[in-house]
Amino acid sequence: MSFFVTTPIYYVNDVPHIGHAYTTIACDIFNRFHKLKGEETFFLTGTDEHGQKVEKASLAKNKDTQKFVDEMSQNFRDLIPFLGCEIDDFIRTTEDRHKNATQFLWNKLKENNQIYLSNYEGWYSIRDEAFYLESELTKKENGFVAPSGAPVEWVKEESYFFKLSAWQNKLLEFYEQNKNSILPKSRYNEVLSFIKGGLKDLSISRTTFKWGIKVPEDDNHVMYVWIDALCNYITALSYPNIDNSSFKKFWPGVHIVGKDILRFHAVYWPAFLLAADIEPPKKIFAHGWWTNEGQKISKSIGNVIDPYEIVNQYGLDQMRFFLFREVPFGNDGDFSKDAIAQRVNADLSNNFGNLIQRISSFIVKNSDSKVNKPAEFIDDDKNLLNQYDEALNNYLTNMNSYSIDKALKNIFEFLSLVNTFVDNQAPWSLKKTDPVRMEEVLYVVAILIIKSSILLLPIIPSSIKKVLSIFSLSVEEINLSKIQNFLPEIISIKKPYPIFPRIEK
Ligand code: MSP
Repeated sequence: MSFFVTTPIYYVNDVPHIGHAYTTIACDIFNRFHKLKGEETFFLTGTDEHGQKVEKASLAKNKDTQKFVDEMSQNFRDLIPFLGCEIDDFIRTTEDRHKNATQFLWNKLKENNQIYLSNYEGWYSIRDEAFYLESELTKKENGFVAPSGAPVEWVKEESYFFKLSAWQNKLLEFYEQNKNSILPKSRYNEVLSFIKGGLKDLSISRTTFKWGIKVPEDDNHVMYVWIDALCNYITALSYPNIDNSSFKKFWPGVHIVGKDILRFHAVYWPAFLLAADIEPPKKIFAHGWWTNEGQKISKSIGNVIDPYEIVNQYGLDQMRFFLFREVPFGNDGDFSKDAIAQRVNADLSNNFGNLIQRISSFIVKNSDSKVNKPAEFIDDDKNLLNQYDEALNNYLTNMNSYSIDKALKNIFEFLSLVNTFVDNQAPWSLKKTDPVRMEEVLYVVAILIIKSSILLLPIIPSSIKKVLSIFSLSVEEINLSKIQNFLPEIISIKKPYPIFPRIEK
């Protein structure tokens, strides 16, 4: 089995914010999850560097555009390790490998009679890099605005068109047969009704500026930034060399995108691919948007959330955990300082952190820093071990269906049961009355901490490495296929320390 996951490639007109961090971390979580299942994985991200919006931003800064995108792209590259993400490739659309792949795709579409030259006259939004029908726009005092709130301008120019209208029925057929290929379900329905509403041919080149990939054999045109950008997903798999192992192994992939760019991924992209004789993506997951303390995040309001600030203030895994535990993946979410503090304190510090701390220090003090596997488990222990198996199954089902929040809920509800087990069994009282039973209890709790930790590895990897090292284990020793039957003969504790300090308000 192989797994290919991608973030959208980020526009380099501005510095990264929490929205970019959110998508990148989501992909990192799925990538780590599939790795943990033993699959061969490929995690791709990168930057979208062409088009009018980026060119405008460089001109506003009075910078050479290439120099500007070099600098801005670096900000996105630097953010990845800071977010604890491990990628396999970082693609930039200004690289030669990408220009070559995109021009090849263009030629292939042309060869397949999918492109024709005509004139475009209509609305365009530079901020969204999107064409709009007048019926989609709202009239405001200063003119029309796009559904996103972005301003639009009237453009009239010669343009190459892609025969999108010809793909309406093929796309519907594909989605009828692949009902889970767009998630969540509500987004699938949205895409289907958009396609059923009728597809118009799409303008795929521009003549009024130069910052883009040249249309082959027509120097007056550069490609529309979205055909250029979408192609990144196959450039990175060495397209057009489709017989090479990475394309064969990893395509079709899973695209994680924000809800605002679903149409490009679920309508235009599969149509381009089908028209070029390539399989459409395996899955497109559209996530929601974050607001800040109830307010839409925007540069003009000045409430953009800087991921560096959040990580420095609350901790990396604390932020990763909050973003994916607090809000169902797919829904919109509100970021607030109270909410992050409350969530981290309740789940990580109290439920999980205290359990680790009290059991590991108790073993150090009262059981010579180690516990042996009991000869037999009594019913109370077996019950709890069975409940873990149940939590594990639910976790797997939920992670496989992209419900990270539910998967996390499964683990934390189980950890509450472990805490109750400790309270009921009261190893501190058993110390004098029944030391053998005390050690059994400690073993059961320690092994269940380890088994639960493994499930949290994709979400909070660096903390889990610390937890495992307290239990003298390393990540390499355990994976998801071994986890159910993992019962080492002895568990030793290395010096315990608090891993999830409380956030003081
Ligand atoms: N360049 C295009 C994508 C091309 S992919 C072939 C683009 N770039 S972007 O930088 O504007 O946005 C990247 C992602 O950030 C999108 O998925 C978008 O939904 C996401 N977010 C931007 N603001 C966000 C929030 N406030 N909350 C969550 N995600 C947000 O679009």
